Amino acid sequence: MSSPAAARVQSFGTTVFTEYTTLSLEHNAVNLGQGFPDFPAPDFVIEAARAALATGHNQYARGAGHPRLVNALAAVYSPVFGRELNPLTQIVVTTGATEGIFATIQGLVDPGDEVILIEPFYDSYPASVIMAGGTPIYIPLRPAPGATSAADWRVDVDELRAALNPKTKLLIINTPQNPVGKIISREELLTLAQIAQEHDLLVLSDEVYEWITYDETPHVRMATLPGMWERTITLGSAGKTFSVTGWKIGWAIAPEPLTHAVLMAHQWIPFAVTTPLQEAVGAAFEQVEERNYLHELSAMYQAKRDILLTALNDVGLPPVTPHGSYFILVDTTDLDAPTPTDDPRDVQICRWLTREIGVTAIPPSAFYSAEHSHLAANIARFCFCKTDAILEAAATRLRANLRS
Ligand SMILES: Cc1ncc(COP(=O)(O)O)c(C=O)c1O
Repeated sequence: MSSPAAARVQSFGTTVFTEYTTLSLEHNAVNLGQGFPDFPAPDFVIEAARAALATGHNQYARGAGHPRLVNALAAVYSPVFGRELNPLTQIVVTTGATEGIFATIQGLVDPGDEVILIEPFYDSYPASVIMAGGTPIYIPLRPAPGATSAADWRVDVDELRAALNPKTKLLIINTPQNPVGKIISREELLTLAQIAQEHDLLVLSDEVYEWITYDETPHVRMATLPGMWERTITLGSAGKTFSVTGWKIGWAIAPEPLTHAVLMAHQWIPFAVTTPLQEAVGAAFEQVEERNYLHELSAMYQAKRDILLTALNDVGLPPVTPHGSYFILVDTTDLDAPTPTDDPRDVQICRWLTREIGVTAIPPSAFYSAEHSHLAANIARFCFCKTDAILEAAATRLRANLRS
């Protein structure tokens, strides 16, 4: 039986990762497509999960979040937010940041509301907006000509202002950003904050890569800018922070009227999040400071980034240097690859890279609206959240098969 709702959900199609994971396996390619770590989580994190299961944390959790986790989150985030967070009223634990996105949008966006999405985006944003009856409005990051740094990809403020109208309700930002690796600078955030206040917008700030930053680039939080705490929902993810994407533990931090809206949606989505893994993430956060873990996380990824950056530069795939997250965009303009079909160029290039070069990348048009997907024609996305051995294997193949 089909229905308009089923048709709407089906219209999102399958995700780009389904195709490229299958293609990569078929061609025995080195898979730098989907962004999940292929190395084990830290021992202290796994140990915390083992202990949580063994000590009886196996029944439904408190809906808004298991006490040990919300207390640990309040302890970690209060200093970085510059305010004493109330663990019981200002934090909601979600089934990964993906549910945080969905619950925030379900809780705050009404049918007919418009939501500003900055492209390229994490692909759950438009789906979540449409399922809430909202309308996504797409504003692409515009790279400066010859951009070699993620910082050179910026929102055109005039373009953003022109898209605003009384129906605009929410602005979604992602910093550090997937897939460009951009960290939105304080100056850029201040401009966005001013626009949000002028137009009375809420801001969803997706900060899942908050602890993965490079070259000492400061990660500035929208919620800490003047006048922004009141209108910002900040999302985080244990999947990214502790290399446990399969655990699906995330959180939303906001003032109480906003967390209440998120919670009202959340209570009908998962109702509660897995108890033992919340206990484990709480225990892990309690140890991050003494272990200097968050600093080491960035250092580990920066070394991985540099392996891949060097290889990409060597083979004539000019990279956009990321300052955060674990992705690198490359410029494929000069690749001498056949594009015989009507499919978008980036899709054909990424298939060719998988089949002929033996390394899988993701075509970024999946992270653009149909109206702007042409902007992705000459780019491809590689991830580097992989073991050094896998990154070296990818580098070897790129050097062997691409160097002219
Ligand atoms: C920008 C962004 N937001 C959210 C998520 C999802 O986070 P989680 O795995 O916690 O649902 C991802 C995962 O790739 C992401 O890249």
